[in-house]
Amino acid sequence: VVRLSHSLPDFQLNSVNEQDVEHFSKILPKTSILSTLAPISTESSELEPYNTDWMNKYHGKSNTVMRPRTTQEVSEIVKWCHERRIGVVPQGGNTGLVGGGVPVRDEVVLNLGSMNKIRSFDPVSGILVADAGCILESLSEYLAPQNHIMPLDLGAKGSCHIGGNVATNAGGLRLLRYGSLHGSVLGLEVVLPDGTILDQLSVLRKDNTGYDLKQLFIGSEGTLGIITGVSILTAPAPNSSNNVILALPSFDNVKPLFKEAKRQLSEIMSAFEFIDRTAYDLAVKHGQGRALNEGDVEGAECFVLVETSGGNREHDEAKLNGLLESLLEADQPLINTGVLSQSPAQFSQLWAIREGITEAVSKEGKAYKYDISIPLGSFKEVVDTTREHLRSKGVLHDGAVKHVIGYGHVGDGNLHLNIVAEAYTQEIEDALEPFVYELVAKYKGSVSAEHGIGLMKTHALHYSKNATSIDLMRRIKSLFDPHGIMNPGKVLP
Ligand code: FAD
Ligand code: MLT
Ligand code: ZN
Repeated sequence: VVRLSHSLPDFQLNSVNEQDVEHFSKILPKTSILSTLAPISTESSELEPYNTDWMNKYHGKSNTVMRPRTTQEVSEIVKWCHERRIGVVPQGGNTGLVGGGVPVRDEVVLNLGSMNKIRSFDPVSGILVADAGCILESLSEYLAPQNHIMPLDLGAKGSCHIGGNVATNAGGLRLLRYGSLHGSVLGLEVVLPDGTILDQLSVLRKDNTGYDLKQLFIGSEGTLGIITGVSILTAPAPNSSNNVILALPSFDNVKPLFKEAKRQLSEIMSAFEFIDRTAYDLAVKHGQGRALNEGDVEGAECFVLVETSGGNREHDEAKLNGLLESLLEADQPLINTGVLSQSPAQFSQLWAIREGITEAVSKEGKAYKYDISIPLGSFKEVVDTTREHLRSKGVLHDGAVKHVIGYGHVGDGNLHLNIVAEAYTQEIEDALEPFVYELVAKYKGSVSAEHGIGLMKTHALHYSKNATSIDLMRRIKSLFDPHGIMNPGKVLP
């Protein structure tokens, strides 16, 4: 049982009754032979996965899950919920890490998984238009033969939806190169909380005709409407990709290393990811990627994974090799050693170590996940200070916290501080909060760099947004959703 130190949000909405289910069943077609999933589920045995989040930390009690196949169906369902004051939780691949995609109480779940068609792709402009329920990896697979790639990539690619990515403004492993979704999303189709369909599915790179409304939905976590279609700028596939894991004797070397890697690799550097020693050890322990040789790991306090993507293999390899040589031959080397991938299989194995940390952590125990933006130079200090704080509270090791680890997108100033425990307990949560949020505020950082606010951080929003901003957010919410039916209890305190 998870107790949350902050009580569950209070909202007055109606539960689904028999007439509602009857009405929804008329909107949704009967099960088709093409799909094994019924468009509507009301049996408790089928509801569990939709009521439980990826971490098994948040649990809703919805008794109605719907899987519409068209925007029109979404619109009709939402219109009914608006009239009947029934809460609606939009759900994608349910890989979110802040409890945003599962109900708080008995709201209906609208899962977009059956809306998974590609609507168009233009290989000249690279603009892709797809249903919101398309799985990120399926979109990458669709683009590969057309020599394009998605502008984002994350460890959850096999399950998360492009609609969920847009709704959370997911960052991930390619942000350093391709920027955030606020730049690459060109248009959206959204069902508003009263059922109106907002068609802004533009395929234009430039469009300065007044307020850019789509931006409001990017990162709105399902609180302003349901995204049903996405128009996104994809990137040309690089002709050559390489990666290397660098072992560093000290965290202090990360910053100068980043500076040097940027200077030498310049336009071909496409990722610069950080893994501290404990995070690496956990990834290896739980079989993520292939462990580096013992000699390469010895004496390493942390690791950095650098990826290059460019247009000319010889040129790119020369640059990366040049960087490695200069690093190793320096009078005071910033790295102990570097493990360079020699084949596509090794390239994937090195990435698997970094991408597999989330999975490894979840196998090791229950994770308290803090996804923060702070100055790069403070990553280690934050991890160490948190560990010492937990020790002083008597909850480290003997007291149920097993590890305090740091990893993340160094190049974007985004640290994932994870506290891995035997169980979710009030004692640990009380030791962590508001301690961690106050630490972040001290650095004028963000309490959520890329995962969002969801249910987990509504009470912490004020550490990163001032009262005027929160007030404006509230007014925007009530303009779009006056009855508060859309993902109630999420984002806003
Ligand atoms: P869900 O989890 O289903 O929903 C997330 C939120 O979006 C909820 O608030 C939900 O209501 C809303 N939502 C979903 N679909 C829609 C829609 N169509 N319309 C309106 N609202 C919607 N995040 C990162 O930013 N970077 C990472 O590198 C990263 N790596 C991850 C690795 C793993 C292994 C896991 C498990 C998660 C990771 N995440 C990462 C977190 C997560 O935010 C992303 O996986 C993803 O963007 C969520 O997409 P989803 O389809 O699973 O959304
Ligand atoms: C990552 O960068 O691995 C993801 O954001 C997931 C996580 O924080 O564990
Ligand atoms: Zn991340």
